[in-house]
Amino acid sequence: MSKNKNNKPVWGTRINQKTTSSFQKIGSSLKIDKRLFKEDISASIVHVEMLAKQKIINISIKNKIIWGLNKILNEILKKKFFFNDKNEDIHMSIEQRLFELIGEDAGFIHTARSRNDQVLTDLKLWLRNSTSEVINDLNKTMKLYLKCAEKNINTIMPGFTHLKNAQPISFGHYLMAYIEMFSRDKKKFQNNLDNLMENPLGVVALSGTSFNIDRFYTTRKLKFEKPTKNSIDTVADRDFVLDFLFAISVCSIHISRFAEEFIIWNSDAFNLIQLNDKVVTGSSIMPQKKNPDPLEYLRGKSGFLVGNLFSMLTILKGLPLSYFKDLQDDKELVFNSYDQIKNCLKVLREVITNFTPNKKRMTELSHVGYITSTDIADFIVKDLNYPFRKAYSITAKIVNLAEKKGKKINELTFEEIKTIDKKISVKILDIMNIKNAVNTKKSYGGTSFDNIKKMIKKYKKEIND
Ligand code: ARG
Repeated sequence: MSKNKNNKPVWGTRINQKTTSSFQKIGSSLKIDKRLFKEDISASIVHVEMLAKQKIINISIKNKIIWGLNKILNEILKKKFFFNDKNEDIHMSIEQRLFELIGEDAGFIHTARSRNDQVLTDLKLWLRNSTSEVINDLNKTMKLYLKCAEKNINTIMPGFTHLKNAQPISFGHYLMAYIEMFSRDKKKFQNNLDNLMENPLGVVALSGTSFNIDRFYTTRKLKFEKPTKNSIDTVADRDFVLDFLFAISVCSIHISRFAEEFIIWNSDAFNLIQLNDKVVTGSSIMPQKKNPDPLEYLRGKSGFLVGNLFSMLTILKGLPLSYFKDLQDDKELVFNSYDQIKNCLKVLREVITNFTPNKKRMTELSHVGYITSTDIADFIVKDLNYPFRKAYSITAKIVNLAEKKGKKINELTFEEIKTIDKKISVKILDIMNIKNAVNTKKSYGGTSFDNIKKMIKKYKKEIND
């Protein structure tokens, strides 16, 4: 509970009894929101500058308050500040300390301001910065994916649908799929900046103020683009929190899908990749084990992050306008999701630089499951000018024949193939070559080597620009 000089809580004249000590502790958000101290102090400085400019407070009081705030900033940075959880939050803690430092004049700081707009301003400032941090981390991650893709343009592996071998693809093309996902994530974070550029400071408790404040001044000084337009909406709005949690959730789902794939590919049954010792852990009983714990961590964390989004949605659902204590939990969710996604991206970067594709096994598995069947059907269409459905059925017969003879599709002889349709030309044998199957997919966005090279070039330029 914040106390003024007379050692009374700020609301002590009205509320005669102390809040129960258990609720004082439980209801305090100080441990969580002390992360906002820099934003809180910068916004307070701009606020009092504006009050002085508008002649709402005098210059000497403004200077005194700013001196006090800078001293507090220094104390916090030097870890000399006492965070007392008797104070409800960082805002009350700073105000309380200001009273200790400069006396009664500290009371002018809260003219034409409420904690409702104060907390929103701080959080938006913090989110602007943190959104850019996540974008930076995504860029770093994308660079490593691009490097890996570049090294693996010619690495051929089976592409799966339903986890059954479907068509051969380049491993580089597969990695580039994640580049697409991460660039969509980046776009989401960038779009979020739009809402974050609206300045809430000055909406006060919920209805604005009778003081002649200048919201356009604080907007400029705090590098917002414009003030928010409706005081009630502003106090109640946490859409920008949802946007942040949503963008993080989707990003974490992308990471989780990758993690799941790599867990499967790293399994003894698939054996398509090998994780280096830096990104596995052992078993306490089975001496032979090398477990993909970092990947499992990534898959698990996405559950957590989606949970944070759902918590916020549920807090907001049915909450009347405008401020309620329920909203205090927004910061815990935001900080937690931010910390977790930073960790996830870091672990992901460690994985992507610490594995080896098992190229031999990738090739071997690419010959399983009659994987070039679609290429054969396409070839028959082009070679014999058959409708696709007829070519599809002829190819299915070729597959049945191979299965009956216990052969891979490329082990069938030309004579055997001709028993299905005698018009088929011998060129069909080239079509069964997996490298050929990959490299002929030249349609825009397809897996041909040239296509991948172009995409890598495009993204390298975009990320470095
Ligand atoms: N600690 C509160 C929060 O973070 C600050 C806002 C308090 N506003 C109020 N009207 N009680 O949500």
